Amino acid sequence: MIAPKRRALLAAAGIGALGIWAARPRANGAPHTPYFADLAQALKRAGIATPTLVVDRAQLLRNAAQVMANVKSRMDVRLVVKSLPCQALIDTVAAVTHSRKMMLFSLPQLNLMAKGDNDILLGKPMPVAAAASFYQHATAANDGFAAERQLQWLIDTPERLAQYRDLARQQALDLRINLEIDVGLHRGGIPDLDTLHRMLAILQSEPRLQWSGMMGYDAHIAKIPDLPGLRTAALTHAREVYARFAAETLNMLKSPNRKPSFNVAGSPTYRLYDGSGIENELSIGSAMVKASDFDLASLDDLKPAVFIATPVLKVMEKFSMPYGVEAIGTAARLWDPNQRKAVFIYGGNWLADPVSPGGLRASGLYGTSSNQQLLSASGVQQLQPDDIVFFRPRQSEAVLQQFGDIAVYENGKIAESWPVFPATG
Ligand SMILES: Cc1ncc(COP(=O)(O)O)c(C=O)c1O
Repeated sequence: MIAPKRRALLAAAGIGALGIWAARPRANGAPHTPYFADLAQALKRAGIATPTLVVDRAQLLRNAAQVMANVKSRMDVRLVVKSLPCQALIDTVAAVTHSRKMMLFSLPQLNLMAKGDNDILLGKPMPVAAAASFYQHATAANDGFAAERQLQWLIDTPERLAQYRDLARQQALDLRINLEIDVGLHRGGIPDLDTLHRMLAILQSEPRLQWSGMMGYDAHIAKIPDLPGLRTAALTHAREVYARFAAETLNMLKSPNRKPSFNVAGSPTYRLYDGSGIENELSIGSAMVKASDFDLASLDDLKPAVFIATPVLKVMEKFSMPYGVEAIGTAARLWDPNQRKAVFIYGGNWLADPVSPGGLRASGLYGTSSNQQLLSASGVQQLQPDDIVFFRPRQSEAVLQQFGDIAVYENGKIAESWPVFPATG
């Protein structure tokens, strides 16, 4: 016979076990929303059955128009090409921003975009050898592009400025120089007025170097913890630094023959500027397509315009781990109804997260694969082989270049195909 004390303990353990069982995850998920069901149909009609980057053109245009409505013509907009690495994508957005101002970060992209009426500012300092290589390859194919008027090199240190001066002298080039200043991000840029003065002295002494403006990137303002006053203080600091460096430069150098580019901000911070300061142009790229890293309060009037679509290859009705550890899969399946089924997709392991149908997620147990990724599912999604699942990229930079031509979705069909820039650094 079981002693009363032992019986009470067993009863308590039984109740505890029941409580834990009752607390196990609930099945979640849903079939595609009408938006994604239509998009999947459009892809199927277009015969697309491999991982594909899709841009929703109408949403892209709405985002661009909304950004312009926010900027209210108080400042110029310069498109960040690394975040929109596709000529047709850039042209589509540029038609709304009415600007050929571009910010570039790569030598191959510079070689491609140094043409026509593009107005280019480098977004990072390039090794002087990269600049030399650009001039070596600049040819008539550059379609009337005049680097001495349409290209600004970004320079961060006196040493690099001296290198560019030597390049200009050796090759009889006229170079426009934009000074990168550190407004608090501490990624680089001129840190203090002493360094600025040394650089201004080089600019003053070399007629082949033409000062063209400043760039102060302020991404930290949106990234530091949102504690009371911290971000406001970071913005105030950034703007004070900018104003001081700009005043000092304008004071020491004779004004350039064109309005200087006082470039600032990025997608997460562009709304912090209203044109009341010295800053006169905003760099914006990612906001136009809004990958998920840009789900920020400052961008909540914009919507995602870019997705990854990929077919389902297999549906495993009962999630099973490999031979030898099958018991783990069984336990996971019993415990969590969202791991009941496994869906293998074409490709995977992207900087992206499943978005439709709802309730799919990467399996922490099975591991990931760039070839055939397993997604855990409850079954509520009702997926079958050849159905399409959608991911949302976390960023547009680089990810947009991993899938070949972009499929452009418009008016319920895949209307166009846009080649992307080669995935080069
Ligand atoms: C110098 C600079 N400006 C602006 C941006 C903003 O780009 P986006 O609008 O795509 O965030 C970046 C992004 O890295 C940058 O490095």
